[in-house]
Amino acid sequence: MNKKIIFIFLILIIGCKTEESTTIEVNLDFINTYIPDINNGKKIFNYSCVTCHLYGSAGATILTDKKSWLELIEKKTNERIYLNVLNGFMGEKGPMPEKGACINCSDTDLLDAIEYILSINGLTLKNQKLNMNNNQ
Ligand code: HEC
Repeated sequence: MNKKIIFIFLILIIGCKTEESTTIEVNLDFINTYIPDINNGKKIFNYSCVTCHLYGSAGATILTDKKSWLELIEKKTNERIYLNVLNGFMGEKGPMPEKGACINCSDTDLLDAIEYILSINGLTLKNQKLNMNNNQ
């Protein structure tokens, strides 16, 4: 009985996460001008993202996996990464939940959390922008 309910619940979750549509509309310009608050990011990370990203549960990239995080910021734009965190998405290794399951998080809370993860690895979204500009 319980198993059935859990199964239905899972189907619902997976069903929602595979939708590609962008449900939350947001002006993305602020991503490239806002100033990260790494301490706030750490708080948000430890409140929510930690569940999956500390040890790589559910297919999530491990916090200290520098190679993967570097690959991410090299491959995707700041905007794409942010939208994937905001709306959730189906990654190759698993589903990332909407807002990283931090329902009450604001736009900058989420960005701070992303920047915190990157900062642990000596990386930042901003550098990506700067590096790209420098290389052009
Ligand atoms: C329920 C587990 C879970 C939680 C909680 C979670 N994540 Fe994720 N996250 C994932 C998975 C799974 C992926 C996709 C991995 C893959 O397949 O590449 C992912 C991917 C990401 C990515 C890469 C996005 C991209 O475009 O590839 C970022 C950045 C990220 N998470 C940040 C966060 C932040 C910030 C939080 C907390 C606010 C958070 N995550 C909470 C599971 C989680």
